[in-house]
Amino acid sequence: MNILLLGRGGQVGWELQRSLSVLGKVIALDFDAAANPDQLCGDFSNLAGLADTVRRVVPDVIVNAAAHTAVDKAEAEPELARALNALAPGMLATEAKKLNAWLVHYSTDYVFDGRGTQPWKEDDATGPLSVYGQTKLEGEQLVATCPKHLIFRTSWVYAARGGNFAKTMLRLASERDRLTVINDQVGAPTSAELLADITAHAIRAAMARPRLAGLYHCVAGGETNWHAYACYVLEQARALGWPLKAGPGQVASIATADYPTAARRPLNSRLDTTKLQAAFGLQLPPWQVHARRMLEEITLDSRP
Ligand SMILES: NC(=O)c1ccc[n+]([C@@H]2O[C@H](COP(=O)([O-])OP(=O)(O)OC[C@H]3O[C@@H](n4cnc5c(N)ncnc54)[C@H](OP(=O)(O)O)[C@@H]3O)[C@@H](O)[C@H]2O)c1
Repeated sequence: MNILLLGRGGQVGWELQRSLSVLGKVIALDFDAAANPDQLCGDFSNLAGLADTVRRVVPDVIVNAAAHTAVDKAEAEPELARALNALAPGMLATEAKKLNAWLVHYSTDYVFDGRGTQPWKEDDATGPLSVYGQTKLEGEQLVATCPKHLIFRTSWVYAARGGNFAKTMLRLASERDRLTVINDQVGAPTSAELLADITAHAIRAAMARPRLAGLYHCVAGGETNWHAYACYVLEQARALGWPLKAGPGQVASIATADYPTAARRPLNSRLDTTKLQAAFGLQLPPWQVHARRMLEEITLDSRP
């Protein structure tokens, strides 16, 4: 089986290289053609090049981990965000459909407006507050034109490799005596490792049972807010021996309304994963399990 993986250098893309390798031959592409086998094009701003890549690789499965994920920056460059988050995935859907291939794609809690406190279900009304959310929603809709699709909406992704909130907190707490973090956005930190493992499992299941095609919410179990998450990260890091200037007691909380950013973010990012767990026979571990593993991994990596 040929698996074409796009966005191999990102948090999820990196973990997918590992998890997909047990399913077949993985052709993993970066957006820089010079770094790719046979100079294949993995640049999402080059639609013709991307289509040519799919035709040359003839994949059984395309897994798209590339995206424009800089949420605030997207407000200033909506056309680029739309090209990467909607038009390129749409083109992958067109090409996958021609080959009768599977297309796997990731989306976000930011497709919702964040009202209320109930976890969002897959068929709840969307209402993105940002360019990132709007373009990711359009991407979902275009990907779903390929009959054999799996779309995983996830949230608050982190990994040992790449930039993310947990690593930013560790850096800031090493430099400063006090931090201030938002406490009224609620969601579930989800590890790229967990997403990659579930993706491989779901591809295998869906290839055996094509009626599993569809949209799924895929996040770790439990919930938290950014402030509590930051405190957890610093508490665990201290226990692992990190020499931090600021510990959990030095993290002040602030409301979203008092912390203006270019892009608006949903307050309620809870995602209901009942559909995913039932369809694929999975149990999603509490978010702390993988967060702790990631902290242990970067602690080991940072030791001389
Ligand atoms: N991160 C989150 O918190 C989060 C939350 C919900 C959903 N998601 C979704 O989950 C998926 C994976 O996210 P992630 O956290 O792994 O993102 P990421 O680490 O930002 O990875 C995205 C990848 O896309 C690449 N890329 C940028 N411009 C490109 C272009 N023109 N052509 C091809 N590739 C390009 C990036 O390369 P460079 O790094 O070199 O720019 C990077 O390797 C995305 O669909 C994202 O929308 C993420």
